[in-house]
Amino acid sequence: MSFCVAIDGPAAAGKGTVSKAVAKHFGFPHLDTGLLYRATGAKTFEGLTPLDAALSLTTSDLERDDLRSGDAGQAASRVAAIPEVRSALVDFQQAFARRDGGAVLDGRDIGTVICPDAEVKLYITASDEVRALRRYAELIGKGEHVTKEGVSADLRERDERDSARAAAPLKPADDATVIDTSSMTIDEAIAKVIALIEAVR
Ligand code: C5P
Repeated sequence: MSFCVAIDGPAAAGKGTVSKAVAKHFGFPHLDTGLLYRATGAKTFEGLTPLDAALSLTTSDLERDDLRSGDAGQAASRVAAIPEVRSALVDFQQAFARRDGGAVLDGRDIGTVICPDAEVKLYITASDEVRALRRYAELIGKGEHVTKEGVSADLRERDERDSARAAAPLKPADDATVIDTSSMTIDEAIAKVIALIEAVR
């Protein structure tokens, strides 16, 4: 039997960390769908069209070291606005969502497009300021040379593009539970999500 946990939300809201921890807790595989768009964007830097990049994705493309940078995030958000690119990635995500035994997927359109009948739908968010600070700390920790203002502008631009696009825009599903992690620790957010899943399992 399948059991899909759909986790959406804006950039740097903590959904990646929460998804990973929750998947581990329940023994479910986890798909960070942002990686599909990041890898597609990265392949366009090498001269492929966005659609060819998406159609030719392999597992090793998802393991590239350069996918976490701000530039890769911006490239991801640009290719993610192209409907044909999104369509090319749907089957893989839906098969993952419905595999036997359960799955956790995080992204922007999991509860709205990829898995509209997900057993659990969450929208994890946090204030703009908190998200910018978290992403700044993460990038500095990785040795990237960034400023708080730069990170904040980068997130704002990406969220605006993701929310304004016509194809699968970033928005909570009507039946999603919204969790604002602005004043939560990561452990509190993880505990809350585990409790919500346990309630419907
Ligand atoms: O989650 P992450 O920041 O890695 O996603 C990078 C970009 O990929 C997002 O800004 C968004 O444009 C796109 N994305 C998407 N749909 C998803 C996951 C990510 O459009 N399900």
